[in-house]
Amino acid sequence: MVSFNRNLSLDLPHIRLLGLGKAYQGSKGPVQALHSIDLEIRRGEVFGIIGRSGAGKSSLIRTLNRLEKPTAGQVVIDEEDIGQFDEKQLVLLRRRVGMIFQHFNLMSAKTVWQNVALPLKVAGVGKPEIERKVAELLQLVGLAEKRDAYPAQLSGGQKQRVGIARALVHQPEILLCDEATSALDPESTQAILALLRDINKRLGLTIVLITHEMTVIREICDRVVVLERGHVVEQGPVWQVFGEPRNEVTRTLLGTLRHDLPEDLLARLHNQPQPGVNELLLGLHFTGASGREPDLLAIAQALGTRVSLLHGGIDRIQGRAQGHLLLSVALTGQGSGDLQERTRTLADKAEVLGYVAHA
Ligand SMILES: Nc1ncnc2c1ncn2[C@@H]1O[C@H](COP(=O)(O)OP(=O)(O)O)[C@@H](O)[C@H]1O
Ligand SMILES: [Mg+2]
Repeated sequence: MVSFNRNLSLDLPHIRLLGLGKAYQGSKGPVQALHSIDLEIRRGEVFGIIGRSGAGKSSLIRTLNRLEKPTAGQVVIDEEDIGQFDEKQLVLLRRRVGMIFQHFNLMSAKTVWQNVALPLKVAGVGKPEIERKVAELLQLVGLAEKRDAYPAQLSGGQKQRVGIARALVHQPEILLCDEATSALDPESTQAILALLRDINKRLGLTIVLITHEMTVIREICDRVVVLERGHVVEQGPVWQVFGEPRNEVTRTLLGTLRHDLPEDLLARLHNQPQPGVNELLLGLHFTGASGREPDLLAIAQALGTRVSLLHGGIDRIQGRAQGHLLLSVALTGQGSGDLQERTRTLADKAEVLGYVAHA
């Protein structure tokens, strides 16, 4: 891998944002898209950026290859402030930082081979070298057979493979992905994610990825940051942010992945015991923080009474069990606090959600 500062310690952050700000001139005055963002991205990680539409995700990622010029603060890559770069250095920077897009941005009048070869041609690379590199990249992304096809003859997933091959022509150290799988069907999304993971591992590439699909983050990211109105509202390892989202925005974004109480149960739930009610709704929460596994036998034994699993689920994120189990527990004399206490060591959090009235 070609690197500018060859003597840098691999432990130093690959990318650092220091007080990064971006304002646009809108029709109704300036729009502040990013407010003083401080962020570190590690070498070789897959770093996810999530947030609602308009949160500033694209603005942020586009400052990393200088498609956008920040209006405040610094972008430091390999300990170099890219704000100080002249035109020639910026051209070299853009070779070190590849990018892929939601709508692929391919040239429709050029073949697969020509699309991938174009940046090399522009850079003045010799013909035999271009031939060798393009063949190698098409092999890498699994498109060797499609070299003479035109974009219109390709599926969405294949087009994105061309986009990836083209982004890798200069052997970049960083790959930026702005909603790269958002236009793809679930199957192609899985295949592209597998390819990105493979590239990340095999080439040691740092990947910065924007997506609105939480499953994409869960699948391939190491760490994630949540942006809201141009501010960082939460960040951390994926298992942590997904396991115990602290911010309301994060909880909303993750809504689709969480197993919330179903309506019919909510309708039958009471804060106080009701006459004739003899079931307690106990929520066991696994955040992934402790590495605890949901041990069903131990839970049932600790409760020592009839227990049924009403709702919930466990996902595995970065090797950790994470999720909720909602248990209906028969009350046989012992109080709710007692039951809660008994399961305390078996989950990361145990809470009594209420008493279930029977219909
Ligand atoms: N070229 C531009 N001119 C004016 N405003 C812009 C421009 N690009 C983005 N914005 C505004 O900046 C904010 C952040 O946009 P963007 O970074 O595209 O968010 P996201 O990618 O999270 O949807 C939005 O309010 C958007 O309208
Ligand atoms: Mg965007």
